[in-house]
Amino acid sequence: MIAGTAMVFVVAALHDERSACRGLQVNKPLMLRLATPADTESVTDVLFISRETFLPFAKSPHSRQGFRSWVAEYLIPGGRVTVATVDHEIVGVLAVSEDQGIGWIDQLYVHPDHVSVGVGSLLLQHAHAVLKHPIRLFTFQENMRARSFYERHGYQPIRFSDGQDNEEKCPDVLYEWTGPTPISIQP
Ligand SMILES: CC(C)(COP(=O)(O)OP(=O)(O)OC[C@H]1O[C@@H](n2cnc3c(N)ncnc32)[C@H](O)[C@@H]1OP(=O)(O)O)[C@@H](O)C(=O)NCCC(=O)NCCS
Repeated sequence: MIAGTAMVFVVAALHDERSACRGLQVNKPLMLRLATPADTESVTDVLFISRETFLPFAKSPHSRQGFRSWVAEYLIPGGRVTVATVDHEIVGVLAVSEDQGIGWIDQLYVHPDHVSVGVGSLLLQHAHAVLKHPIRLFTFQENMRARSFYERHGYQPIRFSDGQDNEEKCPDVLYEWTGPTPISIQP
C-alpha cells in the first residue's frame, strides 16, 4: 500500500433488501480506498456517531472536536486508514497497524445507517489481506454486536481484562485471528 494515494482496493455491490428499507439505493458499488486529509470530517463523523450509537456503555472522555484533532493529526497521517464509500459517501472506517510481527485492527467502525449489509465484513477481509498474521484487536466485553461479528469471522478471545488499562475504564477482551482455516483435500 502506498500512503496518500486514492487507489481503489475493492469494489463490491451493496445488494440487500434491508438497505433499500433504510433508503439506501441497492446495487451501488461499495468501494475501498485509502483515507486522505480531505476525509477528516467524514472519518470523524463515522467514528463518533458509530460509537455514540453502539457503545453507550463505554463513554469516551473525548469530545467530537477531540476526536477530530486525533483523526487529523495522528490517525490519517499514519497512512493506514481505509474508508468504505458508497457514492463517494464514507460509510465505514478501518485503521490497522503492525507491531512485532502482529497485525492489529485499531479501528473498525461502520456508520449506523449502513450496518448489516456487509460493509464491516468487506473492511475486515481487506485487513486480513494486508496485515501479517496473527491479527489482534480489542473490543469491549459488553459490545456483543462486535463480538459476534468477529467470532463469526473466526476470531477467538484470548484475554479478558477489567478495563483499567483503557481510556473508558470499561472491561475489554483481546481477540486473535490466526489466519484462514486450512482446507484439507482428501486424496
Ligand atoms: C461491528 C461492526 C463493525 C460490523 O459492521 P457491519 O457492517 O454491520 O458488518 P456486516 O454487515 O458485514 O455484518 C453484520 C451482520 O450483518 C449480516 N450481513 C452482512 N451482510 C449481509 C447481507 N448482504 N445481507 C444480509 N445480512 C448481512 C451478517 O450476518 C452479520 O451478522 P453478525 O454480526 O452476527 O456476524 C458494526 O456493527 C459497527 O461499526 N459497530 C460499532 C462499532 C464497533 O463496535 N466496532 C468494533 C470495535 S472493535
